[in-house]
Amino acid sequence: KIYPVILSGGAGTRLWPLSRAVLPKQLLPLVSEKTMLQETALRVAGWPGMQAPLVVCGNEHRFLVAEQLREIGQKPLGIMLESVGRNTAPAVAAAAHFLAALDPEAVMLVLPADHVINDVAAFQVAVLRAVAQVGQGALATFGIVPTAPETGYGYIRRGSAVAGADGLYQVASFVEKPDAVKAAEFVASGDYFWNSGMFLFSAANYLKELQEFQPAMAGAVSAAFTKAYRDLDFCRLNEEEFAASPSDSIDYAVMEHTKQAVVVPSDIGWSDVGSWSALHDVLPSDANGNVTRGDVYLDGVQNSLVRAEGRIVALVGVKDLVVVETADAVLVAHKDQVQRVKQIVDHLKASD
Ligand code: GDD
Ligand code: MG
Repeated sequence: KIYPVILSGGAGTRLWPLSRAVLPKQLLPLVSEKTMLQETALRVAGWPGMQAPLVVCGNEHRFLVAEQLREIGQKPLGIMLESVGRNTAPAVAAAAHFLAALDPEAVMLVLPADHVINDVAAFQVAVLRAVAQVGQGALATFGIVPTAPETGYGYIRRGSAVAGADGLYQVASFVEKPDAVKAAEFVASGDYFWNSGMFLFSAANYLKELQEFQPAMAGAVSAAFTKAYRDLDFCRLNEEEFAASPSDSIDYAVMEHTKQAVVVPSDIGWSDVGSWSALHDVLPSDANGNVTRGDVYLDGVQNSLVRAEGRIVALVGVKDLVVVETADAVLVAHKDQVQRVKQIVDHLKASD
């Protein structure tokens, strides 16, 4: 049995002004009529052995998450609630406790709620290839062939081939978010994959590795789960105990340290849609390279993403722009500079 664990606690700040604290990226319909969370849940639904999803999210999003799953006819295994975000390592640990209590053999497929995968069939094959390894104690990652020296990703250096598993590799090293110089070296070497941020491992194994490398975190999350409050589908982690956990991502906390990691090279049409330009790239564009949504008028415009939520947005004689109109904020940015959108949010928070 495989249990999808959907991480839905991020803020998606680089997609401001659409993505907000109250309604972050993963709960928005960004690439289709369905929200990213709904797309994620539906992507794996009905695979052989695949169970109902377990979602981990912030307490404030519980009703939205429940409603969005209901809308697509999915009954979750549970919705685990964090009163305060402690990043992905504790979130995955909480899910591992939930699953291990239910099924000591549970294998979990960790899925960020905000990615695009265009080739679902290839993804399913990649997961199946990982399953065999996980039975032998591996923590499987899904590696994407890098196309640019991105500094926002983890880099996986492939080691020796896994015996008896064609095309799979041991992970020689895992470097989360390297600086630009290192990222360029990694890409040039041809020995590295991007970490897709999806993982497959047994719940018991993850907890074992966490205990070894992050005992304080393991202890805090275990206590938060033991004292969790259950109400229908919701499982509210104990606020005090969970808040006492150190905050760290699974990448830094576990994947950089574990010796059990393997990588499944995955050519699956993956994108983490981390920025407006990434979103532009995954959406179908017109003959001029434009992507529009809502009431948009274009004249002599090229290579632009224009999104109107309420008002009419008109562009004339410009190119390479991202324009996003919402009820209370408007973004206009050059397509090459959209990584700086995050700073807008930091600035607005500071001046609150
Ligand atoms: N429940 C919960 N709680 N979910 C969280 C939390 C949290 O505190 N923090 C983040 N998430 C969710 C996000 O919503 C997202 O779906 C996923 O966990 C990953 O978090 P990100 O914050 O988006 O991570 P990242 O993009 O910086 O880096 C990760 O993903 C990259 C690929 O997109 C890493 O795994 C990198 O190594 C990887 O390359
Ligand atoms: Mg991300």
